[in-house]
Order: sequence, then C-alpha cells, then structure tokens
Amino acid sequence: MAGYKLSIVSLVILYLFAVVNAYKLNPGPYVGNDSLTLDPCLSKCSSNDTINDCNHKCHCAVQETVMIDATAKQQKFHGFGINLAWFAFVMGRAPETVRNQIADLLFDKENGLGLNVVRYEIPGGENPRFFFMHERERLPGYEPVPGVYDWSADESQRWFLMAAIQRGVEIQEAMAYSPPYWMTYSGSTTGGPKGYPNFNINYKDQFVDYLVTVVKHFYEHFNVTFSTLEMFNEPLADYWTFGNRQEGCHIGLDTQQILIPILHKKLQEANIPTKIAAADDYSIDQTLFTVLAYNETGIIRDLHQVNTHTYAGNRRAQLHEAMLDVKKPLWVSEYGNGDNSGLLTARHIMKDIQKLEPEVWCYWQGVDMAGSGWGPLEANLNNVGDYSFYATPKYYTFGQFTRFLKPGSTFVSTSDPLTLAAIRDDTLTLVTMNCGNVTFDVSSFSNMKYQEAQVWYSVPWKGLYFDKVGTFLVEDGKVTLNLPVAGVSSIVIQ
Ligand SMILES: *[C@@H]1O[C@H](CO)[C@@H](O)[C@H](O)[C@H]1NC(C)=O
Ligand SMILES: *[C@@H]1O[C@H](CO)[C@@H](O)[C@H](O)[C@H]1NC(C)=O
Ligand SMILES: *[C@@H]1O[C@H](CO)[C@@H](O)[C@H](O)[C@H]1NC(C)=O
Ligand SMILES: *[C@@H]1O[C@H](CO)[C@@H](O)[C@H](O)[C@H]1NC(C)=O
Ligand SMILES: *[C@@H]1O[C@H](CO)[C@@H](O)[C@H](O)[C@H]1NC(C)=O
Repeated sequence: MAGYKLSIVSLVILYLFAVVNAYKLNPGPYVGNDSLTLDPCLSKCSSNDTINDCNHKCHCAVQETVMIDATAKQQKFHGFGINLAWFAFVMGRAPETVRNQIADLLFDKENGLGLNVVRYEIPGGENPRFFFMHERERLPGYEPVPGVYDWSADESQRWFLMAAIQRGVEIQEAMAYSPPYWMTYSGSTTGGPKGYPNFNINYKDQFVDYLVTVVKHFYEHFNVTFSTLEMFNEPLADYWTFGNRQEGCHIGLDTQQILIPILHKKLQEANIPTKIAAADDYSIDQTLFTVLAYNETGIIRDLHQVNTHTYAGNRRAQLHEAMLDVKKPLWVSEYGNGDNSGLLTARHIMKDIQKLEPEVWCYWQGVDMAGSGWGPLEANLNNVGDYSFYATPKYYTFGQFTRFLKPGSTFVSTSDPLTLAAIRDDTLTLVTMNCGNVTFDVSSFSNMKYQEAQVWYSVPWKGLYFDKVGTFLVEDGKVTLNLPVAGVSSIVIQ
C-alpha cells in the first residue's frame, strides 16, 4: 500500500461545503467530527459556481435515460472485501466490546457493511534490532528465528480473521508483504537499500516452506481455509527501502517466476486446498505487464487467479482482455484514497467493476488513521491503548455498494459509466451516481414483471447516510427517479 503518500498530496484542499457532525444511522459508539476532504473532481469547478452547479458538473452523468442490458452479462461477483493487516493488528487488542463493534460494522450482513472477503497478512516479522516501523505496522512473524515457530504470534490480527468468519465472511486470502527478516539481504523486512531486491534467493525453499507451514497450520489447527495465497505485494515497486516504515520487499519478475512453481509444488504436497494468487502489483498497467510476462513463460498455469491493486494505471480494457485470454479470474485486492466523502472511491469502484470485471473488489483498510480520510472507520492507530474510533462518510457511501451488491450477483452492462447493475435471484439492483431526473429502462428483462423500485441514498455533503427514500412504480419497464447530486443511490427493483 503505497498510494497513501500519493493521494494525500493530491487531496490537500479542504472540502469546505459541509462539516459533518451528525450521522443518521448511528453505526457506532463515537460520532465523527471531520470536515469532508475534497473529492478532486470538485477542483474542476470555477470559484463562482454554486455548490449545486459544481456537483452537477462533477457527478451527474449527462444521460437522462440509462439502459440496463439484460443480455450483456458480465462477471459473477463473489463480493467486496477488506485487508486486515495493520488495523486488525491494532484494534484486535481493543476491549472486547470495541472489537466486536468494529467487526459488526464491517462484516455483519444485516447491520454492517456485510463484507464477504478478508485478506490476512502472514507477517514476515522484523529483526528485533530495528525499530523503523510505525507502531501499527510492527506485526510479529510466526518464525522469528529459523526453524522455530511461534503459533501464539499475531493474536490480534487473527482475532479479526475469526471475527470476520463468525459473521459470515466466506472468502479468506493469505498474503505476505516481506519474507522474514533473516531471509533478506538487508536483515530487515522494510526493504533493501534504494529499494533494491531484498529477498535472498538462497532461501527460496525456506520462504515457501514458511508460507505453506503457516497456511497449513491455520487449516489444521485454527479451522481457517485460505482459498488463495499471495506471496508478493507490489513486488516491482522501488519504494521498499531499508528503514521504511512498513514491511515491503522488491522481488523482480525473474525471482517471482522461480518462486511460483516451488509454491505450487509445495502446496500440492501439503495436501491443502489453497491455490496461488499473484502478483498484487501497485498499478493496473504493471499487472498487465506481469500477466503478459507470466503468460509468455507459461508460469501463469500455476496461478489460480491474478490480483491487482488499482491505485494507478488506466489500461483496464487491455488487462481485462488479457485475463479473458489467459482464462484466469481477477481480483482487485487493494484500492484506497484520502477522500473521506467516499465519492472518489465510489467512482473508482464503478470504473473497476465495469471495465476490469473483477470477481472480488477489496478496499485497503477497514479502520485507518484518524483524520486521514482513508478509513471507512478511523482511529489513532499509532497511539498505543487509544481504541476510540468513528465512522466517516466513506463508511456509508461504500456501504451503498457492499450492502446491496451481494455475493452471487451477476453484473450486466449499462449505458452509463456511473451506474452498476447486478442481478441475483430475479432481483435487479442498481447502484448509481447519476443524478437529477433519471429514467432507468429495464425493459430488456422481457420475462420479468418488475413492479417496484426501492431507493436508498447517501449524500455525504448533506449529512444524509443510509436513507431510505421510498418505493417507486416501475411502469412499462421504466422507472423515473429524482436522484440527489454528489451522492450514491441504491435501487432494488423487484
Ligand atoms: C467538533 O469540532 C468542532 C470544531 O473543531 C469542536 O468545536 C467540537 O467540540 C467538536 N465536537 C466533537 C464532538 O468532538
Ligand atoms: C465564472 O467564472 C468563469 C471563470 O472561472 C468566467 O469565465 C465566467 O464569466 C464567470 N461567470 C460569472 C457569471 O461570473
Ligand atoms: C470450522 O469452520 C467451518 C466453516 O467456517 C464451520 O462450519 C465449523 O463449524 C468450524 N468447526 C469448528 C470445530 O470450529
Ligand atoms: C499467451 O500465450 C499464448 C501462448 O504462447 C499466446 O498464444 C497468447 O497470445 C498469449 N496471450 C497474451 C494476452 O499475450
Ligand atoms: C424532476 O421532476 C420533478 C417532478 O417529477 C420536477 O418537479 C422537477 O422540476 C424535475 N427536476 C429537473 C431538474 O428537471
């Protein structure tokens, strides 16, 4: 996760239109008090625009009629998810009531976001001689010295993993950010000098053994089945430098392609149902590059799926085509930004889901640094012993997606880049940022007798969250709704 620095720089201007000081749904124990940070789209507006003009320019699609095409089926969706790692490591030590509140807010299917996927970090574990990392990033490894495993390590992140599963999260992925420090050249899981490759290839078997041993132990002793294991994290990046504040390791393509077949073989020998995901590159374009390279050498056959972060890059269509060609599913395994309204995230989800057609879409952290704008929930994660937290508007705008676009849905295409449509058990669900008077034409579902549309919306700058707006009639396969500007609306059609 390196998008942090990048986006904070681009999001310095304050969104002065509204100060949020009331939350309608009453989600948690703490009422947030942040100003909304700026959705960068709003910088397009001129200083003499009214708020409404500005929001219209930014958010309202030009189309007044949105066609939903029943015949243009896209991917089957397995759900939205989140990365555990840092926040779970910290908040998993909070008093039990607080931990449970956070787990409910994120994973509960009735009253929370209802996320269905979690990614668990298998920590490398830092050299005890070094103290570079932020408090929240100092996760202990399971093999602190060669050959000696400590299964009591990382209890707090594990608590969140179990809490997620208890609340119905169906899909778990394990991931590594760095091999244990004693397998690296620099002797630190923070990286190599100048971001040079830091994994000592002489430890190739030991690194794979470490990961497989942990995944197998979780399977046999903790009753956790990781469907996939990801051994890299933004491996081509050059910012994993010695003395960095988090675990990270540059691992070049050649080394990746030495490690993947070893992992494939050892997972089979271990007789566990875990398959391989790779390579969690930072950008869409890097992932395209990696997929083409894996395909050329044939290593792609050892993967079950490809993971990408979407912090940067824009060659979505090309990556999607390549994925169809290599016949592997794609996950968006990380994305995030510092716009706490969630509107920038909402537009990004629309683009990712329509153009990349991922099976799973994961936001970076469930709880992030207070005031950063990054978290659906926020807390002072580096402040040991302070477990107070609050929900940001992003919690609600993200919730318009996670609560309504359920696992098992199949997406169908729409004529509007700001409208997603998905069908599950005959129910058609739309999530849209379109606004003004918009007609949704669902007449292509010719054998469905759709009659009513229930509408909810979140409009962060107005202090409106999961508001149920009402139920509207569908007539002759069409429903016309007056939707708010700069919000996210969910429409359930039955
Ligand atoms: C919210 O922020 C305002 C202005 O910074 C401050 O006066 C007020 O006490 C804060 N309220 C809470 C509940 O923290
Ligand atoms: C609004 O501002 C733009 C440039 O920012 C200017 O071209 C335009 O004339 C202004 N309109 C009014 C009504 O002041
Ligand atoms: C193991 O996990 C499965 C799936 O989550 C669950 O159904 C089962 O009850 C668990 N078994 C034990 C012994 O906890
Ligand atoms: C993948 O490799 C196969 C076999 O070499 C080749 O035919 C195909 O065009 C490649 N696909 C892409 C997207 O490069
Ligand atoms: C939207 O439709 C309502 C009535 O259905 C009307 O009162 C309103 O003026 C319309 N708004 C716009 C922007 O056309």
